[in-house]
Amino acid sequence: MEPLKARFDSVARGLLDLAASGRRILVVTHIDADGILSGSMVFSSLAKKGANVVLRCIPDLDPGLISELASQRYDFYVFTDLGSALVRELESGLGQRFLVIDHHQLAEEDMKKAAVVNAWDFGLDGGREACSSSMAYEFALSVDPSNRDLSPLAVVGAVADRQDGGPDRSLTGLNKMALEDAVADGLARVSKDLLFIGRETRPVHESVALTSTPYLKGVTGNKEGILSSLHQSGLVLKEGASWRTLSTLTEDEKKKVTEVVAGLVASSGGNTGSIAELVGDAITLAGEDAFTPLRDVREFGTLLNACGRMGEPGTGVSVCLGDRGNSLAAAMAILSQYRMGIGRALQALSEDPARITASGWLVFVHGDGVIEDKLLGPVISILTSSPGYTDKIVVGLTKSGESDLKVSSRVGDAHQGEVNLGVVMRAAGEAVRGVGGGHSMAAGAKIPATEAEAFERMVVEMLAG
Ligand code: C5P
Repeated sequence: MEPLKARFDSVARGLLDLAASGRRILVVTHIDADGILSGSMVFSSLAKKGANVVLRCIPDLDPGLISELASQRYDFYVFTDLGSALVRELESGLGQRFLVIDHHQLAEEDMKKAAVVNAWDFGLDGGREACSSSMAYEFALSVDPSNRDLSPLAVVGAVADRQDGGPDRSLTGLNKMALEDAVADGLARVSKDLLFIGRETRPVHESVALTSTPYLKGVTGNKEGILSSLHQSGLVLKEGASWRTLSTLTEDEKKKVTEVVAGLVASSGGNTGSIAELVGDAITLAGEDAFTPLRDVREFGTLLNACGRMGEPGTGVSVCLGDRGNSLAAAMAILSQYRMGIGRALQALSEDPARITASGWLVFVHGDGVIEDKLLGPVISILTSSPGYTDKIVVGLTKSGESDLKVSSRVGDAHQGEVNLGVVMRAAGEAVRGVGGGHSMAAGAKIPATEAEAFERMVVEMLAG
């Protein structure tokens, strides 16, 4: 990691010089959890040094927005979690006045540019071993070693970007290094555990029912059914008047919970194989209140994703910057609305199976009227992790504004075969006068509503090829 550190040392020095001379710096970041976290870390590390710095969260970067940013007359721009695909446009709009800190794949010739610090350029797999948050954490360390207290945020970003793909859902690469810092400083604890949402904070049956990744047929959302099955199993669910949480159960009791869950999944005709995904490295943030979603890194990530998706990324930023008062309360309310919206969409899809059309391993989901565009990504993610879909490619489309369609696509973890959805979405989107892009396993597009059929045909052709 020495070359990466040396590189960040050099760009940090450059930014601190700009800060010292009072130049105005704009940090522009993506609105998902990894974007909110990485942008917040770059922002706070510079702000702590007295920089004149502003943070802005955006859903997507495009050439129009680059022109708008250029006209705002900041002296320097730092892009986190976006920009890698638009390096040439950034150069023509901003000249030498920008830096990209990112982990998205990029063209070979852009990788070596002085304005780009991208994980792939340092031998890291930006899809698995480094997210923007762990990159931003390294930057923050170069700004000042005391920023080690940001290590938990890097870990949250890695997990939120689904980079927990090592054995037992562990972290690897640069993400693992951030986790090691957090553990060494007593800020995080790692334990093998059941990875249900709210392990430390919610009654057991609620934890189990809330877990939607993977989607467990007969379990996800079925609070009453789980409660009665857990009772029947003889598990003691209360201690005095208060409900016990999963984290207080003994190993034998946890086994019992797993058996109950497996039984419910099996009796609803679901696939019990996905239950194995629920055991792995639980990461607890020791400094967070035990009764907030921030305590568990996976829930922390979901909370930030919810803020971004629901149009309130600033609330997420405030939480990352340390507000555990009003901002946290607001973020928790947003999280609950987000979960309800996703639950309603999944329910509507299950009541109207004609909206889901499968041919071989390619599945289209038509969400007009039942899936809000801002919730399409998480809904398609959840669907792709559901039994029957994990070996598929799922492409969802739903109305966005008056005349557009939002598209979200995901490759299931068990899908056999090489595919780069980012490339497919970009090409198919552009072919119908829209825009698209993303990662190999998760990508999206925005297209004119009139072009839905042409777009779907393109996707079918490209994937068949
Ligand atoms: O919105 P969704 O969650 O489906 O996006 C998946 C991925 O595709 C994200 O990384 C997002 O930034 C990317 N994307 C993109 N261009 C779009 C839509 C999504 O690059 N027009």
